[in-house]
Amino acid sequence: MSVPIVRTIAGLRTVVAGWRRSGANIAVVPTMGALHEGHLSLVRSALQKADRVIVTLFVNPKQFNSAADLAAYPRTEDEDAAKLTRLGAHLLYVPDATEMYPDGFATTVSVSGVSESLCGAFRPGHFDGVATVVAKLFLQTGADIAFFGEKDFQQLQLIRRMVRDLDIPITVVPCPTVREADGLALSSRNVRLSPAERAVAPRLASVLLDTAAGLSNGSPVLPTLADARAAILSAGYREVEYLELRGEADLQPIASLDRPARLFAAAWLGETRLIDNVRTLPSPVLVDKPLGHAFTRADGHTATPAFKDELVGSGKRYP
Ligand code: PAJ
Repeated sequence: MSVPIVRTIAGLRTVVAGWRRSGANIAVVPTMGALHEGHLSLVRSALQKADRVIVTLFVNPKQFNSAADLAAYPRTEDEDAAKLTRLGAHLLYVPDATEMYPDGFATTVSVSGVSESLCGAFRPGHFDGVATVVAKLFLQTGADIAFFGEKDFQQLQLIRRMVRDLDIPITVVPCPTVREADGLALSSRNVRLSPAERAVAPRLASVLLDTAAGLSNGSPVLPTLADARAAILSAGYREVEYLELRGEADLQPIASLDRPARLFAAAWLGETRLIDNVRTLPSPVLVDKPLGHAFTRADGHTATPAFKDELVGSGKRYP
């Protein structure tokens, strides 16, 4: 059976109410569609943790900075539904813009602090749009648990802050970044890359991983970041918007690696803006659990990057 599709809040609530009566717990996986293995990994995790899984598909106009970017965003609803049917998701919720933002809509959810740096500094209003739509999706679905990718780590932290601040009764579960075999983080925007750009694209991830390794081994932060920026540009990226080391918990800038951090980058390859981040731990730290650098490959296996033998900061290899 194909995944059922609902397009209205009323239709969604009717389905959810039936599930609630049967005592089911409910997960939501918010997406903008053009589903790839990154999204599908979230859906798989949700299916493991909840009785019923709702995937939402809404290309949210409020979080785009340009009309051209919004218009160019890939829309592949039929293929998305087929993928979700194969996985066994229970419901696909596809509201249109007037259902989500009817005439007179006037409310914005704005999370200060975490939304102001990194992508927030370069995409004015973007995170207000994200917070507003995700708050609405949480309220519309009434889900118990929600799944978000670490690929968009700042977004993940923003949602966690919002859930705490607004007492929304939902558990936010982070999921590791899924990458191509060459390390490129899967993104709906990757389809826009020309073959030549696609060949260059994985250098962003490999520079981040090498840089994180250097920092973990004690390289000084500022010169190492300057070298990394130069390496991304010389690989063929047109512009580096930001390349920053920030504390993992609070996203505050850090000048020396004295606590778990993330190395964040946004860079333009031709007309495509790509973002990525990798976990960066102080060294020597021996940890017993896999680090953020073990990534889930598009075929679903967890792997270390093909171009890196060791995980940063641990000295251990994980299968
Ligand atoms: P979208 O870009 O479609 O991403 C939906 C979810 O998939 C997000 O949680 C994102 O972090 C996750 N994701 C994307 N690429 C991934 C990858 N390579 N590995 C793991 N997870 C990945 O993010 C949004 O949509 C929107 O901002 C949204 C939250 C839906 C609000 O509109």
